[in-house]
Amino acid sequence: MCGIIGYIGNKNAIPILINGLKRLEYRGYDSAGISFIGSNGIGVRRCAGKIKDLESSIRGQRLRGIIGVGHTRWATHGRPSERNAHPHRAGGIVVVHNGIIENYFELREALKKNGHVFTSETDTEVICHLILSYTKKGHGLEEATKKALKHLQGAYAIGIISESEPDRLVAVKNDSPLVIGMGRGEYFIASDIPAFLRYTKDVIILDNGEMATITRNGVEISDVFRDKPVKKKPVRITWSPSMAEKGGYRHFMLKEIYEQPRAIADTIRGRLSLEKAEVNLNEFSLKETLLKKLNKIFLVACGTSWHAALVGKYMIEDMARVPCEVDIASEFRYRKPIIPRGSLVIVITQSGETADTLAAQREAKRLGAKVLSICNVIGSTSPREADGVFFTHSGPEIGVASTKAFTTQLTALYLFSIALAKVRGALTAGAVRELFTDLLQLPEKVEEALRVNDTVLKIAKKFRHVRDFLYLGRGINYPIALEGALKLKEISYIHAEGYPAGEMKHGPIALIDNNMPVLALAPEDSVLEKIISNMEEVKTRGGKVIAVASEGNSKVLSRASHVVLMPRTNYYLTPIIFTIPLHLLAYHMAVLRKCNVDQPRNLAKSVTVE
Ligand code: G6P
Repeated sequence: MCGIIGYIGNKNAIPILINGLKRLEYRGYDSAGISFIGSNGIGVRRCAGKIKDLESSIRGQRLRGIIGVGHTRWATHGRPSERNAHPHRAGGIVVVHNGIIENYFELREALKKNGHVFTSETDTEVICHLILSYTKKGHGLEEATKKALKHLQGAYAIGIISESEPDRLVAVKNDSPLVIGMGRGEYFIASDIPAFLRYTKDVIILDNGEMATITRNGVEISDVFRDKPVKKKPVRITWSPSMAEKGGYRHFMLKEIYEQPRAIADTIRGRLSLEKAEVNLNEFSLKETLLKKLNKIFLVACGTSWHAALVGKYMIEDMARVPCEVDIASEFRYRKPIIPRGSLVIVITQSGETADTLAAQREAKRLGAKVLSICNVIGSTSPREADGVFFTHSGPEIGVASTKAFTTQLTALYLFSIALAKVRGALTAGAVRELFTDLLQLPEKVEEALRVNDTVLKIAKKFRHVRDFLYLGRGINYPIALEGALKLKEISYIHAEGYPAGEMKHGPIALIDNNMPVLALAPEDSVLEKIISNMEEVKTRGGKVIAVASEGNSKVLSRASHVVLMPRTNYYLTPIIFTIPLHLLAYHMAVLRKCNVDQPRNLAKSVTVE
């Protein structure tokens, strides 16, 4: 799990590489490095720590090179240190790598026997030595790389430069993401588009087994394993560079929370036909006949996306009456799931690259299920391997804690549930139109919901020193209690638990006292009275209740010490609205506790290893 970048052109590569790495830091941030070819040959600069540490370590050195590669790391083999930081070098060969070489140990032993000396504990270093061994036999960089790749097992996106061929950059992809930025007389490689978005919007997305040989005159792509050229057209990305930056907010997380009205509107855009009372599923590629015959749906995901999956079950079962099972991807892949005929597996993943989710997706396909991917990153692995896709259009999400990606996943699930229900005759055209009307009002309602920011900040100030927090929800908002707790835990390091409110008396009630605040989700729905009773139970035991309730709900006022009022919407959309104060609360608590909001300790945005 790392970010790689490469540049070849006529400008000085160093600031471009550093800049690109800053955009990729969300992929890992325990060490970083760059390498470039200048008038004195190859230079390598690396350090443990973040990109800003690398930047200060090279300040004043006047480095120059018109070709180079860079890397930001999240350790998998070998602890975070300068020695293990990329780029790695053997002779004149320099490599940056994202992924894991599974057979590196055997390869390293064999190379050692042939006199190769290793200087790091990483799996990556074997790649440099393998390529070097073939260049020593007289092969050029491109050919030597192809030969080296035949030995590698595992996942990789690799960028390679060679001192003896300073006018070419070679890049290869297998199971880890890699894209090429097509500038004018300059080219970029990167793990993700924001790395070079300020220089070009024209992008080629590499597929597995593809290798790009890049010179200042252009890009040539070939299929390494079939040994034949591949023609690929660049796609134009509509994200502006500023969308990938903080846009004036103190943290990406806050910026992304405030982007939700736009992100949700983009996810809805072009997908509703009010006249026909239909969801437009052009990109979807799953046939209506398949949806009609579905017997069962599995929803599979990790982390916050798994919370979306839990909400999805309530939506799909309620609207379309198709039974759903929800699985954590890392469990699904190992539990020998029984997948009856006529099953659809929906994988939900912001990045499209989460290792466990991809493994579960592949397992589902192997077992004969059709797979639908709900994903935010176009060109990522999950949608490319799925039978059908539903892209959320939240734009790049940089903050490690997922916010806008989550609410757009919920929006996508709402649309999918309506589509499925309509196709199966479980909803009338009139009912569909009503659901559409509520959805069209949603961006505005989210805008309104964001106005509780100051109230939430006051609550955060009050509770910033607590050690534990309990979140309660019921029905479709039970997963939102889990999400609120997860966010608080991951970014403010306060221990928090999410619970279905009805279960409180089977355990957590024993913990209630003056020091443990309880946040209760109390939208106006069929279980409101029940949650109010749960709030009473907390209050009578001396606990402090923070209620998040629907506007105009006076019943909660006397049972809570703090109340946050949310705009009203239909039952299925309450999870989206009620998530907003929970994400804001976690954010403010983290800021007040001086935590690193966008890069919480030990976490990474995209978990591309098991
Ligand atoms: C990591 C991130 C979470 C995310 C999860 C799943 O844990 O920190 O924010 O929900 O991975 O990622 P995915 O990209 O598959 O949605």
